[in-house]
Formats: sequence, C-alpha cells, structure tokens
Amino acid sequence: MNYQVFDTYETLSQHAAQFVLEYVRQHPTATICVASGQTPMLTFQTIVAQAQPGDFDQVTFIGLDEWVGIEPSNPGSCRAYIDVPLITPLGISPERVSFFDGLAEDLEAECQRVNELIASKGGLDIIMVGIGMNGHLGLNEPGTSFDTYAHVSQLEEVTASVGQKYFQDETPLTQGITVGLRHFLEAKIAIVLANGNGKQNIIKRVLEEPVHEGLPASALKIHSNGHLWVDSAANPA
Ligand code: PGA
Repeated sequence: MNYQVFDTYETLSQHAAQFVLEYVRQHPTATICVASGQTPMLTFQTIVAQAQPGDFDQVTFIGLDEWVGIEPSNPGSCRAYIDVPLITPLGISPERVSFFDGLAEDLEAECQRVNELIASKGGLDIIMVGIGMNGHLGLNEPGTSFDTYAHVSQLEEVTASVGQKYFQDETPLTQGITVGLRHFLEAKIAIVLANGNGKQNIIKRVLEEPVHEGLPASALKIHSNGHLWVDSAANPA
C-alpha cells in the first residue's frame, strides 16, 4: 500500500484529480467507480476545472453506493453527491453513468445489474473512495467478507448517525446498497482518500492493524495497486 500525506486538503485533492485526469488521457475507455461523501468533493471540482474537452467522452462512471429507500432527487442521496459536482458539469451522457437505485423493488436484481455492468467492462480501472469512521469502504460495513460483490448491507449505528450530515432533515438510514470489497480488490487501482482530524483515529487503525474483515479499509493493504492518500490533519503520525 502506498501511503502519502499531503499538506492540505487542497493539495490532496489536486493530486487525486491529476491522477484521474492523467489516467483517462492514457486510458480513454476507463471505468471509474467514484464515491459520494464530503471527502472527494474538491477532487471532483478540480477534475471539472481541469478537464479538457474529450477527456471523459468514452469513460464510464459507476456510483459506489446508495442509501436504501432514499430518492435519487434527495440532495443527500449518494447519487446527488456525485451527479451534481461531477457528472453533470462534465456533461457525461446518461448511458455512461450507473447509479444504484436505492428505491428498487428488487435490490438483489439491482446488485446483479451492477455486477454484470462491471464485469462487462472487464472490471473497474479505478475505484476512488473515502473512509467511514468505522473503517467502511462504500457501505461495506465491518465484518463484510472481502469476497463480496455488490450487495445490500445493514448499516452500523455510527454510519446511520454520521450519515445525517448529508441530509437537511433527520433521515432514518438502516440499509445500504454498495459495490463490494471484491470489486475493490479486483480494481486495477484502488485509492482511499481521507482528510481532516476526524479521520485520524481510523487512519491510525488502518496503518497499525493487520488485515482483517472487521476493518474493511484494511483490504487496501492486500491490493496490488492500493493507495491511501491523506492530508496532514488526518495523518496520525
Ligand atoms: P465522508 O464519508 O467523505 O463524508 O467523510 C466517507 C464515508 O463514510 O465513507
């Protein structure tokens, strides 16, 4: 695992954005799985500001996860957190974007659809995610098998309560639908980003604990091309 500390959230985001831009210029048909949440916001804005016409014409985006039961139009939905700052301003056409439908009647079929889409693309080129306070990646909560593809997860209390920060009104969050840790491990490049001192403890755990399923982000340590990029506020050292 490549661990890198950047002085500020801005330099961290600039590095992540530049990495993605260089990758898509060399691999124009890349498939990229991106996370919602606050962490990648500035990365998204920087990508949009620095993209050249044509950079993303053939790229496919896959939304990492969604809260079950939340409408896509809800500004707190995972979809909105990716659509508004990244997909819409880049002008990505709808057939090259996939989001989980958190309102799907058949959630298992929804998982299958995303599994098949990722498989049809030959797997993910880049998966770029934040990290939860409990070490989750996407909505892969502690205890999730590293061998799991897309699935429905039961949210831990901490995820449901921290998740309130995305919503204007109190919103019950009990389940998620998410790309799996096996997708993460099979991606050509896996990037985990963290900023702010609220993430110091969980970054310390990732650095110090052995690889185990109780700490989903520890999967990064067995990824053959895994990167943990943090700002100095999130760096426990
Ligand atoms: P955040 O969420 O980027 O809003 O901190 C990360 C996560 O919970 O996975």
